Amino acid sequence: MKILANDGIDAAGKSILMEAGFDVVTDKIPQEELESRITDFDVIIVRSATKVTEKIIRASNLKLIARAGVGLDNIDLRTAGELGIPVVNTPNASSRSVAELVFAHAFSIARMLFLTNRIMPDFGKEQFKELKNTASAGFELTGKRMGIIGFGRIGQEVAKIAVGLGMEVLVYDYKSRSFDIIVELHEMYRQHNFKVTLKGQPLDVVLKTSDFISIHTPGSEEVIGELELSMMKKSAILLNCARGGVVNEKALNQAISDNKIAFAGVDVFENEPPVNDTLLKLKNTSLSPHIGASTAEAQLRVGIELAERIVAHLK
Ligand code: 3PG
Repeated sequence: MKILANDGIDAAGKSILMEAGFDVVTDKIPQEELESRITDFDVIIVRSATKVTEKIIRASNLKLIARAGVGLDNIDLRTAGELGIPVVNTPNASSRSVAELVFAHAFSIARMLFLTNRIMPDFGKEQFKELKNTASAGFELTGKRMGIIGFGRIGQEVAKIAVGLGMEVLVYDYKSRSFDIIVELHEMYRQHNFKVTLKGQPLDVVLKTSDFISIHTPGSEEVIGELELSMMKKSAILLNCARGGVVNEKALNQAISDNKIAFAGVDVFENEPPVNDTLLKLKNTSLSPHIGASTAEAQLRVGIELAERIVAHLK
């Protein structure tokens, strides 16, 4: 059996597959050549970069499609389903890393690191005092309100960190549209005597009253557009480490340019790589190139979990 890990796989995962007798190819095949070269492989492993399209699936003899990560939006699930090709992913492995990136952006914005890191290499000597003044308008996360939209695995990790920082947490469970308190988490916080309000809230309450708003909905359906942005505080900070399409980029760009909200932390883009640099050039944004799951720990867990799933499926 031959496996193509087209966006790579952690060495530990690769070893598990090779020890199980699979031939693992990690040389990347360009997207445009995949349709003609996929017949050589029994399994394809992808991250988000490679698109497993209908044409590729139909041209293949694939026995399994494996996503080394969470999102399945780059895989044509309908065609895979129609042809009876199973699709596996690793929904748990990267939650903590994504949640930590949310706070990397939150801290970067709160202490203006995103700005000083851009300016200091060129002007750190000459404009030290001015920069110190600009970056002295920082604030602590403690005591601020974190609004979490979407309360699956990642949203819950974000809540845990926020609580640890002494933030107030408001949750809107977008998927089920339920405002129920997530009982176990609430109980856990109560036992540990955290001063926290963790409760499901109607979306408008989360939008209108949160200092930070972090989105963790599944899929790439738009959640934040012009209307939602207009409901946020002028000082609000929007964090998107979910999917590009979840926030309307044009509306976000406009809202920040017009000072309707203060800042955004953005890890994901409507198109990757982005087709225009509107958001990239905005002053009040902390940016990263879709690296939520890209930590050594997450990729190790992803690699091992996925390899074990593949072996279990095919042996
Ligand atoms: C995911 O869906 O797992 C994350 O967005 C990470 O995607 P990546 O592995 O392609 O970086």
